[in-house]
Order: sequence, then C-alpha cells, then structure tokens
Amino acid sequence: MSKPIVTIIGSLNYDLVTFTNKVPQGGETYTANSFETHQGGKGLNEAIAVSRLSPTDKIHTRMIGRIGDDDFGSNLINCLKESGVDVKYVETIKGISSGVATIIVESNGENRILITPGSNGKLKPTDEEYKNYFENIDSGFVVLQNEYPDSEKTINWLKLNKPKINIAYNPSPFKEELITNEIWSKIDLLIVNEGEAIDVAKKLLPNIKLNEDIEGFQQLAIEIHKLINQENIKTVIITMGSKGSLYYDGTTSTPKFINSKKIDNVIDTTGAGDTFFGGVISNLSLGKTIEDSVIFATTASSLAIQKKGAAEGIPTYEEVLKNL
Ligand code: RIB
Repeated sequence: MSKPIVTIIGSLNYDLVTFTNKVPQGGETYTANSFETHQGGKGLNEAIAVSRLSPTDKIHTRMIGRIGDDDFGSNLINCLKESGVDVKYVETIKGISSGVATIIVESNGENRILITPGSNGKLKPTDEEYKNYFENIDSGFVVLQNEYPDSEKTINWLKLNKPKINIAYNPSPFKEELITNEIWSKIDLLIVNEGEAIDVAKKLLPNIKLNEDIEGFQQLAIEIHKLINQENIKTVIITMGSKGSLYYDGTTSTPKFINSKKIDNVIDTTGAGDTFFGGVISNLSLGKTIEDSVIFATTASSLAIQKKGAAEGIPTYEEVLKNL
C-alpha cells in the first residue's frame, strides 16, 4: 500500500531569538539574557512536525515554499532534508532574502514575533504549478496557514480540482479578510486558538452569545463546525493554551475536551502550536482516531515548550510515545 501524503504549503523563516526578562517599551533599552538563531516559520515547523512525529518512512511529507538565495535559505532547506521532508518544491528565488522572524521570548516562555516575509511573499503558484504539485495525488492532507500570500487561492484550487484531499487550515497570522463563509465552507479540518475562535464568531456568527469558558468554547466549536465543509474529515479543534484543547467532528453531542499536561519549566512556547498541528495531522494520516491524535499532539507540544527553538524543539515520535 502506498504511503499517506501530507503536503505543507507555507513559510520558512530564519528565527532570530532574544531571550529576556523584560521587554522594552518605545524609547527604552534593556540588556537581554541571550540570543540564538533557530529554524522556523509556521510552514517549516509544521512540515518538520509531521515528519518527526511519525515513524520513519511511514508518511510522505512534502513542503511547498520559497527561500532566498542566501545562507539562511540553505540552512532552512537543509533542516527540512535532515528531518526527512521532501523539498522538491521548495524553490530558491534570486535577489531576495529568505523569510526572517524577530522573536522576543520572556522568562515565562511567552513570545512576541515580528515577521519579514522576504521570499515567502513570492509563494504564489500558477494553476499550472498547482497542477504539477498535485499530479496523481487525490487523497491525504494539505496543511495551510496564512504566512504566505496565496492561502485563499490554494483553498479554492484544491477544493475545485482535488475535492477528496483534506484541507487542514490554521488561520494564523489572523487575516480578517480571509474569514468568509465561502472560504470556510471549503475547509476540512480547522485548528484555531481561543482568540481566533472569538474573532471568527464576531465575523461569521454575530448572534452567538459567547461565554469564554470551556463550555462556551464547546458551544462555539459546534457552531463553527456548521461553517466548514461537511464532506471529508469535517473536524474543528480549538486550542486553549495551558488549559488544553477541544475537538468536534459531529459524531458526538458535545465536543470533547482534552486537558493539557502541566509543565512547570516552560522555556519557549514558539512553535508549540505548529507542533500540535503537525502531531494531529501525522496521527490522522496514520489512521489514528481524532481523540488519540489530539492526545498525542498535546504531549508533543508539552515537550516542545520545554526546549528552545521552534523547529529544534519538536520532539520525535518515539519521545512522545515514551511520555504519553
Ligand atoms: O509559529 C511559530 C513561528 O512563527 C516561528 O517559527 C516564526 O518563524 C513565525 O513564523
């Protein structure tokens, strides 16, 4: 039997990370604790997460992206290769720098991120290119976020030409103009955090009365579920940070809440969401249930936040199994 195929379309960033106890306001200067560089970008992190969070060679993980012709770009593509990701469609664009993220991580692990898209801004495939990328592929998952300019076109092209492929979407960074009934009706698996879920409710569900507790988000997940594609995997996941996450696929009366793991030594939360997303997709691709996939992904992201760096912090499949 052929392997499941997961295609990640999106950003690759070189992360410039400063670790500090205090974040300066305008006009202030502080001395930070340390500076490090790490591979990142939501697309790259998700690709590495899918590949690393599955047994070797069980999933064909592919990345579609753009790097600049600079050292950052070579470093990013090598990192994908070393993690077993197929980089045939990661192209180098001449005369432009690779994507960069300037990140400040505070002592509680929380981050602030400023992105310069660089070559990621050039990821706008033509219809011919999309056709080529998905030639002979009619199943599996395509994983998307908003760190490249073409997510709307990707969604429309896939739903029209490859309706059986599951579109898994994390609408981050949040772009209000992409929250429309038309786009959301084409999404098969949606992962949003609490803030994004509230923003969606404000735009698409203006009459809903939202309580910002677990029960309130369970109600919201049921309503958001009605907005997404009713074919394919039709699943909504709302992540709630250190509290946990909940999922709804329409097969139970109430969305199921999964507690997060209590972690005392949070070092760096950068990429934790991407790790969670990758863990869900790798497990679903391996044929696991949504419940088992969310539990696995919860453990994976709890391990990721105990290490520095977005991509480097992502654990292996075996490490997660030992900690489940
Ligand atoms: O989600 C984390 C990622 O967001 C970082 O790696 C950074 O590059 C930004 O894209």
